[in-house]
Amino acid sequence: MIHLKNKLIIAIDGPSGAGKSTLSKALASQLDYLNIDTGAMYRSVALLAQQRRINPHDESALKALCADLSIEFIRRESSERVLVNDVDVSAAIRTPEVSLLTAQVAASPAVREAMLHLQRKMGEAGGVVLEGRDIGTVVFPRADVKFFLSATAVERGRRRFEELQAQGITVDLQQTIAEVEARDAADTARTLAPLMQADDALVVDSTQLSIEEVLNKMLKIVKDKEAGLAE
Ligand code: DC
Repeated sequence: MIHLKNKLIIAIDGPSGAGKSTLSKALASQLDYLNIDTGAMYRSVALLAQQRRINPHDESALKALCADLSIEFIRRESSERVLVNDVDVSAAIRTPEVSLLTAQVAASPAVREAMLHLQRKMGEAGGVVLEGRDIGTVVFPRADVKFFLSATAVERGRRRFEELQAQGITVDLQQTIAEVEARDAADTARTLAPLMQADDALVVDSTQLSIEEVLNKMLKIVKDKEAGLAE
């Protein structure tokens, strides 16, 4: 584990399938930082909306839901858990139904405003890695280090294809690549907090690199930043 003197705010953005989740967790664990998976926060709101049968277009009901919501990230026996109102929802927020509902809920201005407030509160003291789509542009535009993880759509589609195959799910490679491209287009075209690369983000292209190689590259950048701050 690496101990940094300064408690930095590290933002990691990028399209789906670029390895954000794996790398954010690994980076946070190496630095002994808190990993804040902002996608899991939007998923948590969607889960509660599903349980309470709230229409994802009902802004006032979503606003009321967010006003009375606690989300906590904890590390338990080396696995990262998400607690919502003290209940462990780590598995429940990953179902296909919740994933679908999350895309709708994440487009709600009331939900985005509430999550923005929560994310800033959780991260402002530093010692955090925040992973999402709008961290370096909207949530923490003054983050100490901003990464934008990328990989070609073909490579991300191939990774997704292999992941599904490993789970025994048969899919078509070309179709999986086309789905990745369609999701990118939707994420980028969204009017509210679209996927956007901050001007000062460091682009890390993982197309030709292993997880270890990308992680080492990121760790070096964080350590260099830390050294610069100490000067
Ligand atoms: O990264 P993920 O698949 O867990 O994200 C779940 C959903 O939340 C996805 O539809 C994108 C959305 N999201 C968002 O709008 N803003 C973020 N900062 C993180 C995720």
